[in-house]
Amino acid sequence: MKRYRFAFVASLFFLLPGSAISSSGFGSDLGEYQSAVMSILRLHLKAIETLAANQKHQYAENMLRHATALRSSAQLLDHVYPDRPENRATQAGSETSWNDRKGFDDQVERSLKATKELVKASEQWMKGHREPMTGAIKSVRESCDSCHKIFRAH
Ligand code: HEC
Repeated sequence: MKRYRFAFVASLFFLLPGSAISSSGFGSDLGEYQSAVMSILRLHLKAIETLAANQKHQYAENMLRHATALRSSAQLLDHVYPDRPENRATQAGSETSWNDRKGFDDQVERSLKATKELVKASEQWMKGHREPMTGAIKSVRESCDSCHKIFRAH
């Protein structure tokens, strides 16, 4: 009898970590987290594009703040890889895409490089050199689109 009780208690230890993970909200809600990260990226980029289009060069110092924030936010990307089907907010472009962790990491890397250049261009922007900003924004956009083409269904 004692042995059975031991086995029962021991099995609880194996069950606990699983239930602890799902109750922390990182189980099926991960899709919602992914969407939140994407919205953060989208809104910083939108703010940057709006400032860049502003002929009067208003809030110029905020350009660098947004670019720095976008770069930090891009560092969140490698943590949003949904390695389990139930954690995916959407279907990937193709079923096999989600089995390509390395491919995803390459896209993350591309985004990190593009946002790093964006920070440099923003520093130039603050000094009144506007030209590098246009190309830097374009590269960031392309890095978003490139990942979406493979990993986003819509
Ligand atoms: C490494 C891959 C990757 C990169 C880079 C990436 N995304 Fe995404 N994005 C995804 C995936 C996968 C989805 C679909 C899942 C989802 O909706 O959360 C998505 C969805 C989105 C959505 C829709 C979110 C929703 O609530 O439906 C927006 C907006 C978005 N991305 C913006 C961006 C912007 C802006 C950038 C670039 C600054 C970017 N993404 C870079 C992978 C990426």
